[in-house]
Amino acid sequence: MKLTMFGAGYVGLVTAACFAEMGNEVVCMDTDPAKVEALQQGRIPIYEPGLEDYVKRNGEENRLVFTTDLAKAVEHGLICFIAVGTPQDTDGSADLSMVLAVAREIGRHMNGYKVIVEKSTVPVGTAVMVRQVIAEELKARGVDYEFDVVSNPEFLKEGTAVDDFMKPDRVVAGCDDVRVAELMKELYAPFVRTNHPIIIMDVVSAELTKYAANGFLATKISFINEIANICALTGADVSMVRQGIGSDSRIGNLFLFPGVGYGGSCFPKDMQALIHTARSRGYAPRILEAVEAVNQDQRRLFVERVKNHFGGDVQDKVLALWGLSFKPLTDDIREAPALTVINDLLAAGARLQAYDPKAMTAVKEYLGDRPGLSYVSSSYAALEGADALLIITEWAAFREPDFERMAKAMKSPVIFDGRNLYSPAKMAKLGFRYFCIGRKADA
Ligand SMILES: NC(=O)c1ccc[n+]([C@@H]2O[C@H](COP(=O)([O-])OP(=O)(O)OC[C@H]3O[C@@H](n4cnc5c(N)ncnc54)[C@H](O)[C@@H]3O)[C@@H](O)[C@H]2O)c1
Repeated sequence: MKLTMFGAGYVGLVTAACFAEMGNEVVCMDTDPAKVEALQQGRIPIYEPGLEDYVKRNGEENRLVFTTDLAKAVEHGLICFIAVGTPQDTDGSADLSMVLAVAREIGRHMNGYKVIVEKSTVPVGTAVMVRQVIAEELKARGVDYEFDVVSNPEFLKEGTAVDDFMKPDRVVAGCDDVRVAELMKELYAPFVRTNHPIIIMDVVSAELTKYAANGFLATKISFINEIANICALTGADVSMVRQGIGSDSRIGNLFLFPGVGYGGSCFPKDMQALIHTARSRGYAPRILEAVEAVNQDQRRLFVERVKNHFGGDVQDKVLALWGLSFKPLTDDIREAPALTVINDLLAAGARLQAYDPKAMTAVKEYLGDRPGLSYVSSSYAALEGADALLIITEWAAFREPDFERMAKAMKSPVIFDGRNLYSPAKMAKLGFRYFCIGRKADA
């Protein structure tokens, strides 16, 4: 099939490359000329395991073309995917300006029947707005092409995005027309050969499904964080409690790891958008608001515990930071807990030595030069002369470090582990003061 992808970010680029891998002819359009130029030369502007191979191979075989040329992009695809950003607006709602700008351009340039697919995460009612904007443009041009609007939310996870897209647990397609539903089934059939479902539903339900999925996952994280905080107060061990509840098939083990709270480009903004959707219709979503509040507190509690250890004063304390991206295997730092931790500790006068395998460039660009914050080239370099180590993201390389080497490099062997990576008993034996989340080693 001839497909067009608008937006070459984490979702657009992965989606475009995976569709091309299945033999489709894909044009991927982005308004960022530097990004498009890099992609045309086979350079990937983001870190996402496995993606580079797909982009290179399909580029070489001419199934994946990158462009900034809007008219060419619109004309190419029978199916036009909108995969641009939907960041949080000042009132918490999703900012749809980029989505509607793409819709307008589609209306200005379409030259025949098109299926327009919302791949971006967009609130209920967006398909109606997309339809209106396109219809306005067609009217202004004095033409009358038919088109359909589909909601096809994306559930991939950064870090395993290519695998997630190639083998989805399910595909959700909101289509108000039977023929379009058949087209979506045909497009996705190669990805669900193991009989994972393609769930066809109405457009509004599909739009809401994505927010409901993220809302539920965020709830699991805040739930286990709250249980961890109760464990810390009662002497229970959250890793035991987690196993005890997770083995119940109604609960499950996934997404039940306590930590420093969720971040990233999706959960925080999608929670706000869902809350806004509910409130703007006169309903107070108490569970969702509590989930967000617990999440914000979780970051603050982590910083507070560090400060408490130093008697409330971290002025001139040297703190090593391991992990800056919002989760491992990505360079994405949007809403990353590390940013809150860095800002709070710098404001309190600490000196930070930060290391991340992939995200340091992004943090440098985002925060700029900040007195007291230095970036180092290895996890061990971060520990030189450190009064404590703070683990914020659970990159695999942090799981089995050389503890003797760590203790030698540090001024004092103290670890605040925001991801519960180590055994408290082992850390005690090795002579570390070890603070973790909701387990018995906590002081
Ligand atoms: N990142 C994820 O893990 C993930 C997962 C599922 C869904 N989503 C959703 O997918 C959407 C995109 O997210 P992302 O992380 O890929 O965003 P992103 O910021 O990485 O990428 C968006 C891209 O769109 C481009 N763009 C902006 N305006 C454009 C226009 N008018 N025409 C063409 N390109 C334009 C930008 O230059 C950028 O490259 C969001 O709605 C997000 O919530 C993201």
